[in-house]
Amino acid sequence: LGDSTDKPGPLSTMEWAKVWFDNIRQTYVLKTEDEYAPQASGDIAELQGAFPFTLYKYFAKLGAVYTLAFGPKKFYVVSDPVVAKHILRRKSLLYDKGMLADILEGIMGKGLIPADFETWKKRRRAIVPGFHEAFLNRMIRTFSDCTTRMKSRINGEIDRGKGGVVLDLEAEYCSLALDIIGIAVFNYDFNSVTSMNPIIKAVYRMLQEAEWRSKFLIPIWNVEPLNWVVPRLRAFREDQKLLNDTLDGLIEQAVSSKSSEDLEQLVQRDYDNVNDPSLLRYLVDLRGEEATCTQLRDDLMTMLIAGHETTASLLTWATYLILQRPDLLERVREEVDEVLGDSDAPTWAQLKQLELVPRILAEALRLYPQPPLLIRRALAEDTWPQGGGSGRVSVKRGSDIFISVWNLHRSPDLWENPLEFDPDRWTRPYSNPAVKGWSGLDPARANGLFPNEVAADFAFLPFGGGSRKCVGDQFAMLESIVAFAVAMRDFDMVLLDDPEQIERELVTGATIHTKDGLRVRVSPRRKGDDRAHDKTDLSHDDTDSKPKQRS
Ligand code: HEM
Repeated sequence: LGDSTDKPGPLSTMEWAKVWFDNIRQTYVLKTEDEYAPQASGDIAELQGAFPFTLYKYFAKLGAVYTLAFGPKKFYVVSDPVVAKHILRRKSLLYDKGMLADILEGIMGKGLIPADFETWKKRRRAIVPGFHEAFLNRMIRTFSDCTTRMKSRINGEIDRGKGGVVLDLEAEYCSLALDIIGIAVFNYDFNSVTSMNPIIKAVYRMLQEAEWRSKFLIPIWNVEPLNWVVPRLRAFREDQKLLNDTLDGLIEQAVSSKSSEDLEQLVQRDYDNVNDPSLLRYLVDLRGEEATCTQLRDDLMTMLIAGHETTASLLTWATYLILQRPDLLERVREEVDEVLGDSDAPTWAQLKQLELVPRILAEALRLYPQPPLLIRRALAEDTWPQGGGSGRVSVKRGSDIFISVWNLHRSPDLWENPLEFDPDRWTRPYSNPAVKGWSGLDPARANGLFPNEVAADFAFLPFGGGSRKCVGDQFAMLESIVAFAVAMRDFDMVLLDDPEQIERELVTGATIHTKDGLRVRVSPRRKGDDRAHDKTDLSHDDTDSKPKQRS
């Protein structure tokens, strides 16, 4: 990262006033456009309703870099991998999280996502080593324990529902991901797969609040008195207090039982048998790192929010996609049967042998990226390289930028048949010389469990890229591989709603989700002969066709 003094500071109020004044003057008075960044003009209501999808429409019309202006606000929309790489990796110090930090600070405090640069640098150095190999290896047990618990509950419902049950799988995956992140991050078992309590409700409402704030352009929550008057803001404060108190209790407990053992030694020896392998324990025991309790709480809250719905959405969309492709489902089952057998407790070595499952998850993240937009603000004047169809655009200090991951992942310039669900594309190299400076997709460049941003030279940003890349990428992939492999191996599933309608009604905020849940009829998997002889015709059973509500 170099020296922190290299990084320009955030904008002052006066500077803001000037940026807004210039935006209004340029858009409405002079009516001039950047030479190489055409301006989108459209209906703001249309934009707010389906934000990332509307950005795709303008991308098709205006190209890989354009501006979007309304009122004093102006955004550069980037759908070009060369420019994305420049912003995220090459010149990452010239950009911060801008609007996203303004929105999330009230929820995550000084956690990694919204933190100021100095805090972020310190906390990132403390947190990243926490995702060490022994921790991830130990977490595989947590992933399979929680998946088995979900499986048992579903099997119980199936028994009561005469062989089949209709479930909202999006809600099931959300509970699973919440249970896992609670145990992994602060050794707290929400047990939301089987029960509901005020703390779980508070977490869900916090997530909804984060989503609502991400769509609300005026940060009214920064006007302190409104937090006591507006009912939703008041309810949010109450939820926040409940969660803060819970986290504070867990932190106090961890601090008071601070381990005198040398953690590194412990990690090397036998992490598998540590009573509490959580990140909180690691951060508290970590030698030489002194974080305040408030900072630790912000770190935990950030990881709770960042690592929960994202993973649940990935599992939801991967399931949605594969249920429409019986041929692929058959191949997945063959692979999982061969590698895992009947085991509910896979090892890391076994997970590494799976090839199709990670490619399906990669393809689900390509078509439904979580989040669909990355948000940045330029902290200094900068000139972008010329890439896929854009000219050399210069941005001023204070410019707000959306890197549209949705557009990048669906760009016809960057992918063969971009809208097709084709997990095998991750085995075929692809390039397009028309996109100057982009080296294309090369599966050989992917290393680890999953094709990442390097494999497609920043045309694929499932976990972002550069210095602000996701810290939980490996964790999330291992978790998703375990849950997806076991669910596909053990259950027969039928999608109950029309995919076209699901697509038409997509809802987005920090993640992309369905309007009313993913309704799926679930029954135990019938293998080969069983299927041929089984008299149960689930398409005509009397199972209640409404999903079992998890209140
Ligand atoms: C950052 C995606 C799971 C913690 C990010 C970013 C993306 C992302 C795209 C970059 C945001 C940006 O550049 O503005 C995902 C997806 C996940 C996932 C798709 C699951 C499928 C997790 C998990 C954790 C986590 C499980 C924690 C256990 C974080 C944190 C950051 C982050 C702390 C901020 C990093 C920083 O700014 O230094 N994630 N994430 N994520 N993610 Fe994840």
